[in-house]
Amino acid sequence: MNTLQVQNLSAGIEEKQILKEISFSLSPGTITVIMGPNGSGKSTLANSLMGHPQYKVSGTAQLEGEDIISLEADERSKKGLFLSFQYPAEIEGVTVSNFLRQAVNARREKPIRVSEFKRLLAQNMELLHMDHDFANRYLNKGFSGGEKKKMEILQMLMLAPTVAILDETDSGLDVDALRQVCEGITTVKERNPQMSILVITHYQRILEYLNPDYHAQRRDRKDRRQAARSRYRREGV
Ligand SMILES: Nc1ncnc2c1ncn2[C@@H]1O[C@H](COP(=O)(O)OP(=O)(O)OP(=O)(O)O)[C@@H](O)[C@H]1O
Ligand SMILES: [Mg+2]
Repeated sequence: MNTLQVQNLSAGIEEKQILKEISFSLSPGTITVIMGPNGSGKSTLANSLMGHPQYKVSGTAQLEGEDIISLEADERSKKGLFLSFQYPAEIEGVTVSNFLRQAVNARREKPIRVSEFKRLLAQNMELLHMDHDFANRYLNKGFSGGEKKKMEILQMLMLAPTVAILDETDSGLDVDALRQVCEGITTVKERNPQMSILVITHYQRILEYLNPDYHAQRRDRKDRRQAARSRYRREGV
């Protein structure tokens, strides 16, 4: 069974249609990269899948066989879907450590033991070459662009979702940070062999550090005008 099966997904805001009948699937244990130019609807796809209330969505999206389109974002998260944001929010008063512990606990029956949580957090921060002080800082407050992106990957490492959608995780990273983030992505997948990862980007360079199973190119606007329907072309690499 596919981990995520999206069929005829259309999405828009008020009267504006942004995505038209997108269909694709993610197999367990694969990394898929979707590339496309600015404004081609990549974040709209990510946000619609995660259940952002701003978008009017039709079609189906099945997470491990269950349609999630009617669910709220937090319910989708509990079912194992994760989205890293292109523009992560700053939250004053909530430390990284507290935020992550609550996020981990929200998806467990019994709260994680504090010692176990600290061990896991330290291990994952080390993997991403993050300074330990970050755990006690307010979430994303004063973080550089690259640090915010690492924070998103740290969250993914801590939550180990079934399907992770990474929206422009590579933008704004220097080469070292990009390599560390890609190591983080590879490690989380090694630890969770059934996990599927959808990487959304408009940079080719992530392909140098990440070895995806599939690579899809979103057609540009000109192509879309010529095409009867806009679609993702899926091709093996
Ligand atoms: N809240 C909104 N109100 C109006 N238009 C919107 C809104 N959100 C998205 N759009 C429009 O939908 C189109 C797709 O936007 P989206 O953010 O999905 O693109 P993207 O592929 O993620 O671009 P980028 O590569 O710049 O991140 C754009 O033309 C954008 O202006
Ligand atoms: Mg975007």
